[in-house]
This record gives sequence, C-alpha cells and structure tokens, in this order.
Amino acid sequence: MNLFEQTQQLLEDVKAFPIASAQELEQFRIKFLGTKNVLKDIFAQIKAVPNEQKKEFGQLVNQVKLVAEEKFATAKVQFSTTQQTASNIDLTLPGEHLPIGSRHPVNIVKSQIISIFNKIGFSIALDREMEDDWHNFTALNMPEDHTARDMQDTFYLQVNPAMLLRTHTSSVQTRLMEQQKPPIRIIAPGRVFRNETISARAHCFFHQVEGLYVDENVSFADLLQTLDFFVKEMFGKETKIRLRPSYFPFTEPSAEVDVSCFICNSKGCNVCKHTGWVEILGCGMVDPAVLENCGIDSNKYTGFAFGMGIERITMLKYQINDLRLFSENDMRFLKQFQSV
Ligand code: DAH
Repeated sequence: MNLFEQTQQLLEDVKAFPIASAQELEQFRIKFLGTKNVLKDIFAQIKAVPNEQKKEFGQLVNQVKLVAEEKFATAKVQFSTTQQTASNIDLTLPGEHLPIGSRHPVNIVKSQIISIFNKIGFSIALDREMEDDWHNFTALNMPEDHTARDMQDTFYLQVNPAMLLRTHTSSVQTRLMEQQKPPIRIIAPGRVFRNETISARAHCFFHQVEGLYVDENVSFADLLQTLDFFVKEMFGKETKIRLRPSYFPFTEPSAEVDVSCFICNSKGCNVCKHTGWVEILGCGMVDPAVLENCGIDSNKYTGFAFGMGIERITMLKYQINDLRLFSENDMRFLKQFQSV
C-alpha cells in the first residue's frame, strides 16, 4: 500500500471504529487524536510524497483529522448524557424549590379598577408625572392665589420652579381635553406626589385613578350609575353608595362618596369607625370653566369626573393599616399577596 492508500484506509478505519462505551471512546481518542496518534506517523512521511501531489495528500490527511474530531465530539456528548441519566442523577430527589413571585397589592387593585371601567367603555389615558402649573392647577380652576392650592403641598422642581410633580391625576383631564374633542370617556391611573410628612396615613407619593366622561347630555345620574356599578363590582353586589356634598375647585356640584362598610356589613367596626360607611372617592360635574379652559364648548357639552386613591382602596380591601408598607419592600408583607 502506498501512502495515499494507507491514508484512505485510515479514513475508513475512523468511520468504522465502533464506539459503544466510554472505554471505546477513550480508545478512539488515543488512536486517532492522542499525542501519539496514527495520523502523525503518516504525516511524518510527507517528505516522500512528490511535490505535485503534496497538496492533495495534505487535504486527505486533514479530512481524516476532521472526521475523527467530529465523531469524537458527537460520541462524547452522547456518552456524557447517557451516563448522567443512567447513574449520576437520583430521580427520587425532590425538585428544586422555585419560590412563586407576587404582584404588588397596589398593582393588583389598579388592574381590578381598570378592568371594571373597561367593561363600561372607559379607555386608559396616561400622561406625565412632571407637570406645569397650568395643567395641574390653573386650568382646573385654581389660579395662583386660590386657597385650594393649600390643600395640596406641592413639590416644585429646583431646576425649573415653573414645573412641579403632579399632585393629582386630575392633570391628565386637562391634557386630554385640550387634545381631544368629546366624547371623552377615560380613566387615568398614575402616581402622584405631595410634600407630606411620611406616616401611617400619609406619604410623599401614592397612586390615584382619575375618571372623566365628557359628551352631550352627560348628567349627574350618569355619574351615580357609573359609581354604583363600580362599587358593586369592586366590593360586592350588596354594597351601597352614599354621596355627601363637598367642594373641589374643578367640579360643581361636588361630592364625596362613601360605601357601606363591606367589612362589618355596616354593623360598625374599626375600619368604618363604627359609622357603617367608608369614604372612597371625590367626584362631581366638571365645572364649565374647566371645559372652557381646555377649549371645549360648555354650552354644548357637560361631563363628570371622579378621583380615587388606589392605596386607600387597597387598604380597605385588605385591611392594611399602614401606608408605609406599600413602599418598604418588606417580603413578609409582599409575600402575603402570592395567591392573588
Ligand atoms: N383631585 C382630587 C384629589 O386629589 C380628587 C378628585 C376629586 C378628582 C373630585 C376629581 C373630582 O376628578 O371630581 O384629591
């Protein structure tokens, strides 16, 4: 056999070599890929090959090497896996424990509020947290010297004192009414900020959902129906609402809404402070001046608006008594919402 025939034979040997165990794999490695492999012997004789055949010969030797490497790599994967399943893994061991995550309670309640209002045709509107004075105050009937501004302690931006962190999601109302013509039927969930001392009942940031419906012939009765539907979906079919006259600069008339205490069925408990009622939101008919400020004809259109605190509803629903729990990221608190 000349050198070419020997190499050809070697290629056949590589292909035919049986590898059916880890031992045979090792034998294969030593013979064809080890430090003293048979290919090396052949390569050492390259000097004897005539120059014009050297290229062809080199390619053949290389092919043998590649085929051997490939066969080895494939067999190695096969054996290491079969070996593991066969002997290394104890199939009776209990599985690894992966803890289930939980959604934040404020997020859970926010989604519930959104889906309830979605059912009756309210879409979602989102807008900026950094606002200007016009959209947060002035357009909402609170000019600069208006005493109602004292109701909400405001964070102004140091870099630009004309800008502020919105104190309520009512700012989304004015943004939207400027951009869109009626009919407008939206809810605006979002984060709001107030310069308050942090305590169990107050925080410097929290979340609200704003509601707004502007169209021809929107009446106070529509507002009542909407809120009645909302509280029954949110707190249960038996829940009743009660409206108390109130004051907000951007609505006229305005009201605060209480729901019958769903904790004690209005019999009297700590949550309702033994009154049988708990307050959940503020609302009213959009003041015509606000419509006009936003370029909407108040002779043609009317509207209602409402605003509620998501933390407040969450606290009532889950009987949480400290607002700070929502932002402390204490796992002992958050884990309790795993199944919700
Ligand atoms: N913006 C009010 C607040 O932060 C809540 C509110 C009250 C919103 C009455 C309204 C409304 O749209 O009609 O306290």
